[in-house]
Amino acid sequence: MFNAPDAMPAGRVAPAALDSLSREILELKRSLNAVILAHNYQVAEIQDVADFVGDSLGLARQAARTSADVIVFCGVHFMAETAKILNPSKHVLLPDLDAGCSLESSCPGSKLRALQGTNPNFWTIAYINCSAEVKALADCICTSGNAVKIVNAAPKDRDLLFVPDENLGGWVMEQTGRPMTLWKGDCYVHVEWTHAAITRIRQLHPGAPVVAHPECPKAVRMLADEVCSTEKMVTWCRSTPAKDIIIATEAGMLHRLKKECPDKNFIPAPTDRCACNECRFMKMNTLEKVRDCMANRTPEIQLPPEIAARARVSIERMLEISGRD
Ligand code: 13P
Ligand code: SF4
Repeated sequence: MFNAPDAMPAGRVAPAALDSLSREILELKRSLNAVILAHNYQVAEIQDVADFVGDSLGLARQAARTSADVIVFCGVHFMAETAKILNPSKHVLLPDLDAGCSLESSCPGSKLRALQGTNPNFWTIAYINCSAEVKALADCICTSGNAVKIVNAAPKDRDLLFVPDENLGGWVMEQTGRPMTLWKGDCYVHVEWTHAAITRIRQLHPGAPVVAHPECPKAVRMLADEVCSTEKMVTWCRSTPAKDIIIATEAGMLHRLKKECPDKNFIPAPTDRCACNECRFMKMNTLEKVRDCMANRTPEIQLPPEIAARARVSIERMLEISGRD
């Protein structure tokens, strides 16, 4: 039914190997004609029951093309909202409605509107990690997987305003040479990695390349051999001859990488202050909550139709520019 080069088709775990809860979820999936989409940061057992596991871009593409009646979105709120915007008539379930994102909460629509009002020549690019209201105020959406492409395609005569991640925005400015006004938001997980912590782990594993997410601060990105989205981490790690690879992103990524590259050794980059490389929002979803949301058909994402319609224009523009496959 689907062909997803940018996401991992599941079904790699034999049904007999699944526990009873996972089997119950697969049974509910059949009866609801549902598709289960999971982000790379979800806990291992959720990734293992999902139809597709991928990054924000891959999951948005899957949501845009699905023929299922119900989308069970195992990720955070803005991701499920994106799926609903692309599928207004379908049921989109999120196992825990409180699964938010520090980037999303850093950028309320009212404050963005006020900033936009200061320069009528602004052309606003919103990282997908934002609310539907902010998407509705943006000219185009981007993800970490296509941000460079989106900025390169932006009108040359406009002043670019990039919200809400100043680290991703800074990295894109470095890649494209295009100046942008940056919103001062960040991912509370990725800013925990420091130059000192990465330098220390490199010394312990000489020769191991470092792969970092662009939400990391510049001091960390400068030390990385590759800076990319979570899905591109999979393709990069597959193709590098290196056996030991240091990963600076959320801990759930390790499960996906180990599955895709079983012959490689992935070393989670340590943070300085604590072992805080887990996103508490991503980890709000559990297998039990996945089962319950399917059994009860709630919590369900609901959106004001006029906001959804406007946000859809910006998301569709992104999909047109970056390709739907
Ligand atoms: P990706 O789109 O690279 O998976 O990133 C999403 C995210 O929330 C990173 O923190
Ligand atoms: Fe948001 Fe950071 Fe969690 Fe990603 S890891 S969902 S950016 S808080």
